[in-house]
Amino acid sequence: MKYLITGGAGLIGSHLAAALLKEGHEVQVLDNHTSGSPDNIRHLTGCPGFKNISADIRDYHALEQAIAGCDKVFHLAAVVGVKRVLEQPAETISTNVTGTQNVLRLAGIYGKKVLVASSSEVYGKRRKEQKPLLNEEDDLVSGPPSKLRWTYACSKVMNEYMARACFEEQNLPVVITRFFNVVGSGMIPGQYGEYGKVIPRFIDCAVRGKAVPVYGDGSQVRSFTHVNDVVKSIMKLMEAKEAEGQVFNVGNYGAITIRELAEKIIRFSGSSSSLNYIPFDEIYGGGFEEIPHRSPDLTKITELIGYRPRYTINDILHEAIDLYQKGELAYRAVDSL
Ligand SMILES: NC(=O)c1ccc[n+]([C@@H]2O[C@H](COP(=O)([O-])OP(=O)(O)OC[C@H]3O[C@@H](n4cnc5c(N)ncnc54)[C@H](O)[C@@H]3O)[C@@H](O)[C@H]2O)c1
Repeated sequence: MKYLITGGAGLIGSHLAAALLKEGHEVQVLDNHTSGSPDNIRHLTGCPGFKNISADIRDYHALEQAIAGCDKVFHLAAVVGVKRVLEQPAETISTNVTGTQNVLRLAGIYGKKVLVASSSEVYGKRRKEQKPLLNEEDDLVSGPPSKLRWTYACSKVMNEYMARACFEEQNLPVVITRFFNVVGSGMIPGQYGEYGKVIPRFIDCAVRGKAVPVYGDGSQVRSFTHVNDVVKSIMKLMEAKEAEGQVFNVGNYGAITIRELAEKIIRFSGSSSSLNYIPFDEIYGGGFEEIPHRSPDLTKITELIGYRPRYTINDILHEAIDLYQKGELAYRAVDSL
């Protein structure tokens, strides 16, 4: 198979590219290197069947050439990260909506199957008391346009509707995946520790004996998913005929509060750091709305492809601390605060 990965120089895309090449497939990566880095795919340069295209998904001509020449598309390119979205809401809409429209339009013209990356952010501001696990059929509850942090979630909801519309109207084979706090090794352009990466921020402080900065009161609940589990699951979903036209949560068990996460990191890294609670307003400006609880119902993906995440939160943290201490890699959780 010949796969195109938009956003293939990013965290998930670079690991996916490596996994597909390992299975003997051909892979084209198309990325504009805004939040991803060429360093993430440098080790793949020269592999048989690998091609790196430096382009924007809003460059219709470049995208057309890439889609025409492949069999299937993993569409992962997007503006991601709360801070980036707050700073560049128009760019977020342009990339995530117009870019995705280009991908779906060209996939329709050339008849290519597409997996569209969505996010657990689409579930919005539901509280644990309402329902502890988020299910694909739940209502989606975003905030108003006066709160720009919802730009990302709404752009991803629109991507889902666009993909579903192409499936219903044109029989375009699409699969939609809602990722929950994916973490893994990867390089990030620009300042280390920028753009709301909770795990590297905590590890960096804990290892250096500094107070660990917890945003808000630390009661927000997340479940972190290792990138290797994500890659395996999206490769399977792409091949599953029954997945077409459907939305799947891709996440992990073992939900944890951000306070517990900080405490674990301090313990695992042998640190004696304390916690420093910082109000959200100080980080993201006034009126910031935090998502209090985000943990997936994984019944649907488990039933369809036998999904069983291999990495627990403890595995993830031990690996992250180890990599950090070796000074080898940056580590991040793009969506988390
Ligand atoms: N990592 C997570 O926790 C998480 C959670 C939910 C959803 N997602 C979604 O998964 C996908 C992949 O995310 P990731 O974690 O690998 O993030 P990432 O930032 O590492 O990857 C996104 C990639 O898209 C590229 N990109 C951005 N705008 C582009 C454009 N206009 N044209 C071409 N390339 C562009 C970036 O340079 C980057 O390499 C995204 O769609 C994201 O919204 C990720």
